[in-house]
Amino acid sequence: MAKSPSFSCTACGNVTSKWAGRCEACGAWNTITEDAGISKGPAKSLGAKRGAAVVLTDLATEEAPPPRTTSGIAELDRVLGGGLVPASAVLVGGDPGIGKSTLLLQAAAQFARAGLKTVYVSGEEAAAQVRMRAQRLGLADAPVKLAAETNLRDILTTLEAERPGLAVIDSIQTMWADNVESAPGSVSQVRAAAHELTSFAKRKGISVILVGHVTKEGQIAGPRVVEHMVDTVLYFEGERGHQFRILRAVKNRFGPADEIGVFEMTGRGLEEVVNPSALFLSERGTASPGSVVFAGVEGTRPVLVEFQALVAPSPHSQARRTVVGWDGGRLAMILAVLEARCGIPFAGLDVYLNVAGGMKVSEPAADLAVAAALLSAREDAALPANTVVFGEISLSGALRAASQTENRLKEAQKLGFTAAIASGGGKPAEVPGISVRRVDDLTTFVGDVFGAG
Ligand code: TYD
Ligand code: MG
Repeated sequence: MAKSPSFSCTACGNVTSKWAGRCEACGAWNTITEDAGISKGPAKSLGAKRGAAVVLTDLATEEAPPPRTTSGIAELDRVLGGGLVPASAVLVGGDPGIGKSTLLLQAAAQFARAGLKTVYVSGEEAAAQVRMRAQRLGLADAPVKLAAETNLRDILTTLEAERPGLAVIDSIQTMWADNVESAPGSVSQVRAAAHELTSFAKRKGISVILVGHVTKEGQIAGPRVVEHMVDTVLYFEGERGHQFRILRAVKNRFGPADEIGVFEMTGRGLEEVVNPSALFLSERGTASPGSVVFAGVEGTRPVLVEFQALVAPSPHSQARRTVVGWDGGRLAMILAVLEARCGIPFAGLDVYLNVAGGMKVSEPAADLAVAAALLSAREDAALPANTVVFGEISLSGALRAASQTENRLKEAQKLGFTAAIASGGGKPAEVPGISVRRVDDLTTFVGDVFGAG
């Protein structure tokens, strides 16, 4: 049987029969490579030749949980799941200029001060530049070992000799493995470097933190497979023009994957924000139409944010829907439910929705706050300034109870709110100082709150 050549995308793994410049499955450029020696015919059964027996163990073992090292930067330690696990690989992604190098230099210094032998490898800046930054951040005395290097082979040899507990690689896109032909930053280089570093980490018991730049589409530049290779993926995000930054766990083999850490970029580096709700609500004025405070939860942490909506007659033949900080598809769904279940049309109206302060919200419990903001803007009627809103909306117009109700209410009470509108169901949580109105469906909510519907 003649073997036909097979090609696959190094980014998404899609298999095709012909080469192309752009993968038709994931849209990545220059990622199609020929699969050498993969026979399409039926393989010979593995049973023909016996392998070695693998030792099986029980699920129940006496092993203690891995000892973690904490940096003392509480916002970072929490996102890591309670500190850094030995021999783990962490990827920190983010836009250029967002503050990744600053964060990791501060983290490296704190881990080193906590007694973990730490090496910081910069492939982007000269050692003098890193040293200057450390000085400005007041970290010059931290026992961090520094190298400005991009040659992966040399870096691995150095780490092998030094045997640190932690190596920070800034960034994975600048690393160059001399056994791979393509240029640094290319998909195959990034993949090879990440693979070498993560397997080295496991083999030698060294934790590695890799910095990765993010593309315009919001993914870590290079193949998706890098995210699969590491134990933990953190995204460092923030809006230009805003001082605060959010470190978000999107994958964590050693802890919950939805925790966030909040920082503020100051002249002296990143500072922890102990009370993010106060920060996000700090620019809020008096009660105004379209403004609704959502009592959200990110991981274990309650965070209050303000949704702002603007609804205006559209001059265009196709009305605009613009969202910042929330999911556009979800907005379309809420608009459809308001129209179909409550008879409130938005056709011919431009709709703008914004999360104040530049925070990104992904919780479904924000549905009710969004609906309230849209109605408030449309009816030009402000909700009382002392009220928070939360609850998930289903397609039928029924409201589903949100998780961690008590946590949300306590945070609202702490920030001076005295009333809450929440979706019904579940055990009603009682928090002194805050009165809760429970609603079961969207039509009731619309009638109760806006006298419409
Ligand atoms: P940097 O950590 O270099 O970003 P990244 O590694 O993600 O590309 O941070 C760059 C920005 O941070 C830069 O615009 C200056 C700002 N910055 C401060 O505001 N204060 C500081 O103390 C430091 C070190 C940087
Ligand atoms: Mg950098």
